[in-house]
Amino acid sequence: MTDIFSPIQMGALELDNRVLMAPLTRCRADENHVPTDLIAEHYAQRASAGLLIAEATMVMEGNSAFWREPGIYSDAQVEAWKKVTDAVHAKGGRIVLQIWHGGRACHPALNDGRVPVAPSALAITNDQVHTPEGKQNYTVPRELADDEIPAIIEGFAKAAENAKHAGFDGVEIHGANGYLLDQFLRDGANKRTGAYGGPIENRARLLLEVIEAVVNVWGSDRVGVRLSPLNSFNSMQDSDPVGLITWLAKRLNDFDLAYLHLMRSDFLGEQTGDVVTPAREHFKGKLIVNMGYSGDEAEQVITDGQADAVAFGVPFIANPDLPERLKQKAELNQADPTTFYSQAAEGYTDYPTLAEQQAKQEQTSEPA
Ligand SMILES: Cc1cc2nc3c(=O)[nH]c(=O)nc-3n(C[C@H](O)[C@H](O)[C@H](O)COP(=O)(O)O)c2cc1C
Repeated sequence: MTDIFSPIQMGALELDNRVLMAPLTRCRADENHVPTDLIAEHYAQRASAGLLIAEATMVMEGNSAFWREPGIYSDAQVEAWKKVTDAVHAKGGRIVLQIWHGGRACHPALNDGRVPVAPSALAITNDQVHTPEGKQNYTVPRELADDEIPAIIEGFAKAAENAKHAGFDGVEIHGANGYLLDQFLRDGANKRTGAYGGPIENRARLLLEVIEAVVNVWGSDRVGVRLSPLNSFNSMQDSDPVGLITWLAKRLNDFDLAYLHLMRSDFLGEQTGDVVTPAREHFKGKLIVNMGYSGDEAEQVITDGQADAVAFGVPFIANPDLPERLKQKAELNQADPTTFYSQAAEGYTDYPTLAEQQAKQEQTSEPA
C-alpha cells in the first residue's frame, strides 16, 4: 500500500518518501544575500525529507523583500549554495531551490531606495515589512511596462542556470503567496490592460513564459511550480480562485513538470474554497499539497490518492527528523515563531532530533 513513507518518482527526482520540506524563508544569509554555513547545517539536518524545497531565493539583485534572504544571482551566492547542496547530498538528501521575485513586496529600505515593481501600482496594505530600521509600511510599486518583462524572464532563466551550477537537483518556481508571479495571476493585484492583464490567459502569461524559460535550462522533469490561489497574505485576492486553479492545472499539463505544489488555504483565513480537488482532477502530473497538514491527515490524503506528497512547513522548522517522528508517531517539538526570522543559530539549527532527546533523557535519568 502507498503511504507517506513510500518512495516516489517526480519527473527526474527520485524521492525516498513523501514527507517533503516546504520552502521557509529564515533570513540566515549575510548582508549580500550570500548563504551562510548555518544554512548548510540547517538543510543537512533535514536531509531525511523526501525533498527539501529551499527557501524563496532572489533571482535578481535589488529585489529584497526580507532582510538577509538569500539570492542566486552572484558568483559568491552560487559558491555558497554549493556548500549547501553538497552537505545535503552527503547525507543522502535531495534539494531544489525556490526561485523568486518579490515584486511589490520588496521595499526601498532593503534595496538602496529602489522602488519595487509590480503588475499594477497597488501597495500591500494588510501587513508591514521588517527592515533594519524597524517595521515599515509597504510602498506603492511602479507598474512594469510590457517591454520590461523580458528582463524579468531572463532573470529567472539566469537564476535557474545558477541553481544548476550550485548543484541543486531542480528548481521550484515561486508562483505563490503574493509575490511577483502571483501578483500577475490574481485579478485583485493585476489591473493591467494589454498582453499581461485582463483574462486568465493574459494574467498567466508571465508565469507560463517563466516556466518555459526555466524548462529550457533544466528540462521539464526537474522543474516544479508553487501556487496559492486562496492565500490573502500580501493583500492578495482573486474573484475566482477555483476557476484560476482549474485553468492553470489544465494548462500546466503542457509542460510535463516534475510537480505542482499547491497551498490549499489562506494564512489569514479570509478566502475559503476547495482548490485541491480541481487541481487533482485536471493536473496530470504529481501533486504536492501543503498547509496545516498533520501527520495523520497527510497519511490520509496519500492513501486516498488525493495527492502524491505533502509538504510540511512549520513542523520541519522544529523537527529536523520529521519523517522519523511521523513514522514513530512521536511527539513533535513546537516551533518558536519569535526566532523564525531572527538571523541567529538559536531556533534554526538547535532543535533536537528524537534520538538526541532520548539520549539526553537517558543521561538525566541515570542514577548518580
Ligand atoms: C517562517 C516562514 C517562512 C516561509 N517562507 C516561505 C517561502 O520562502 N516560500 C514559500 O513559498 N512559502 C513560505 N512559507 C510558507 C510555508 O512554505 C508553508 O506554506 C506554510 O508554513 C504552511 O505550511 P505548514 O502548515 O505545514 O506550516 C513560509 C512560512 C513560514 C512560517
